Amino acid sequence: MPHKKIAMAPDKQIALVAHDNKKGDLVEWATFNRELLAHHRLYATGTTGELLEHELGVSIHKLQSGPVGGDQQIGAKIADSEIDFLIFFWDPLEPQPHDPDVKALLRLAVVWNIPIACNRASADFMISSSLMDGDYDRLVPDYEGHRTRKIAGGDNGRAAAAVVAEADSLTA
Ligand code: PGA
Repeated sequence: MPHKKIAMAPDKQIALVAHDNKKGDLVEWATFNRELLAHHRLYATGTTGELLEHELGVSIHKLQSGPVGGDQQIGAKIADSEIDFLIFFWDPLEPQPHDPDVKALLRLAVVWNIPIACNRASADFMISSSLMDGDYDRLVPDYEGHRTRKIAGGDNGRAAAAVVAEADSLTA
């Protein structure tokens, strides 16, 4: 599959999310790295964002709380290239009511090839990388080919969009 490049500027768009048992870890980590984080644009799920704003005194773009849609909002922003970096301290020892959303968020981060740190050691290595404060061209598969793929059973030359449009007109 061909690739395209998505430019990541020196000021990155970072999403921060922590499950309840991991919020302490994230607050400690972010407090220690406050200066390094300061010039980036920060996003967070609702409760994580409230905590970080309070503890760090920095402005954070807060989304819904994770279990009521925040994880999915972050996933959508990743797909729209509005978030290019994810710090996600998820809890490996406790099932979450929104486990499908957690999995979906991690999946989209991989689909769009954004850096993900799921624990403090990974976050330490990433935040201290020399790539963090420079331009970086992220390689992403060109999903245009997926959107316009041929659909089995359809006319050989028709694209998926044409098949969908025809189905829509039949049900209108
Ligand atoms: P919260 O959501 O920051 O609103 O607690 C985090 C999550 O559970 O995804």
